[in-house]
Amino acid sequence: MKWTEPAYAKLNLTLDILGRLPNGYHSLAMVMQSVSLHDTVTLTLGEPGTGIQVECGEGAPSGKDNIVWKAADAFFRYWGRKPEDVCFHIEKHTPSQAGMGGGSSDAAAALRLLNRAFRAGLTAQELRTIGAGVGADVPFCITGGTMQAEGIGEVLTPVMSLPSCGILLCKPPVGVSTPEAFRLSDSAPAVPPRTPAMVQALETGTLSTIAGCLYNRFQEILQIPQITDIVDAMKKGNALGACMTGSGSVVFGLFPSEEEAQQAAKAVSGLGQVFVVHPVEEQKIEEME
Ligand code: C5P
Repeated sequence: MKWTEPAYAKLNLTLDILGRLPNGYHSLAMVMQSVSLHDTVTLTLGEPGTGIQVECGEGAPSGKDNIVWKAADAFFRYWGRKPEDVCFHIEKHTPSQAGMGGGSSDAAAALRLLNRAFRAGLTAQELRTIGAGVGADVPFCITGGTMQAEGIGEVLTPVMSLPSCGILLCKPPVGVSTPEAFRLSDSAPAVPPRTPAMVQALETGTLSTIAGCLYNRFQEILQIPQITDIVDAMKKGNALGACMTGSGSVVFGLFPSEEEAQQAAKAVSGLGQVFVVHPVEEQKIEEME
């Protein structure tokens, strides 16, 4: 038997940093959006006694160092069973060090796969609880869609979906360390959060209004020249709005259609790796197959 799940990448339509928590993590307010760029995670049953195995091509480690291994281990602990002999294969497409939750979405896909394969019957909320212990973006990636995320990213509220549109992604060669970006944010002044305006725009606005509300506090704090160049190039290429996602370094631009995003791709093709994608809606968790 073989089970397969797509692991959709995410974008931050907004990212506000609200403050530092006593445990060193940061409280955030964000609107997260799943997009069609995805890894594919496959689960097969392993030989008896092999435990949890993770095979991954280029772009992420194999074995215990992969976040998928941690997710599977956490799944069996939560479920109260000895780890089964399972083998995960990850086909990577989402770039790493991108701010697109590539590892988190693989971990979430692994939790959905185990729930299906072993007919564990865990709810989306239970899978999110397991995911919260694995990584801050894993809870969102359990179902994805369009969600407001608060706390460290685990308090999720569905919001109106991003309307149908084309999204141009550009990943410059510069990498950003997430812990370093958070450390820099600790000495930056507090600014008013912009997530409430985005939630309002999703409820009542047009795609242009929504594009005008894109915001990322890390982008302001980090001030990376390559990021600014891509944002400017996307806007010159008629993006309705453009912004960095997560702690970077992917920049995305919103366009009325995928055709228009594709036409603008040449404006940024010299600045990094380019993808054209579209929004993906929330996935339902089948409680039992
Ligand atoms: O949970 P995840 O592995 O995605 O987080 C990577 C790092 O980012 C954490 O080790 C922490 O330093 C920082 N972080 C944070 N506040 C958050 C999420 C992540 O400080 N809400």
